[in-house]
Amino acid sequence: MSLRYQRLYVNIDHVATVRQARRSQEPDPVAAATLCEQAGADGITAHLREDRRHIQDDDIHRLAAAVTTLLNLECAITDDMLTLAETLRPAQVTLVPERREEITTEGGLDVIRHEAAVRDAVTRLKRLGIRTSLFIDPDASAVTVSHAVGAEAIELHTGAYAHAPRDPATLRALREAAALGASLGLAVHAGHGLSVNNVGPVAAIPEIEELNIGHAIVGRAIFVGLDAAVREVRAAMDEAREADLF
Ligand code: PXP
Repeated sequence: MSLRYQRLYVNIDHVATVRQARRSQEPDPVAAATLCEQAGADGITAHLREDRRHIQDDDIHRLAAAVTTLLNLECAITDDMLTLAETLRPAQVTLVPERREEITTEGGLDVIRHEAAVRDAVTRLKRLGIRTSLFIDPDASAVTVSHAVGAEAIELHTGAYAHAPRDPATLRALREAAALGASLGLAVHAGHGLSVNNVGPVAAIPEIEELNIGHAIVGRAIFVGLDAAVREVRAAMDEAREADLF
């Protein structure tokens, strides 16, 4: 049985991180998005953070116009962000938690505690036909509540796996959450901390149809260029899925 094609969305935030280090024009995340698409990315992901540490509002508007694949806007559940999403109408919105002091998105959305707010946000976005994904920890209750609030997709946080890839529990949690999500009819995505070196076991999880990968690709691009960095990850994903042929 051949596993279904798995989409690669490239997160270009850290191209903007380098630019913002000098508050200048270069490197431009929009130009980077085009290169990623030419290298085979199925979509582009960008996170407009409340503190605007990397992607700026102007970037998001330019990305919405320039992306020829699909734009996945990552944002927190705030009225400002939801209004922006309603204006831009990206193909997909991934709702993420956000704390100003964190270095990166450290945990999944607490969909249980914030169920009402998450439901309202999903309803607002769905009304406009925007595919809505919830970034959650690989936890059965979070998956069940994501389904209950009407999300079309979940993105499983792979951070615990990326920190301890040799701990079988981290991969098992992803496998179980992916299987549960798919059994409920949710589309299952995954991401955070993935790279050529650790993506294989996650790419091989049959229910996962989309991976979001950013930091490792942008970091690797410094050495080999963006085109090669995207193709390396794509090849590692394909290899892992093909190895699962039986
Ligand atoms: N998915 C989500 C929801 C994220 O917040 C991030 C980080 O911005 C990623 C995927 C990509 O993580 P990384 O940059 O570690 O590949």
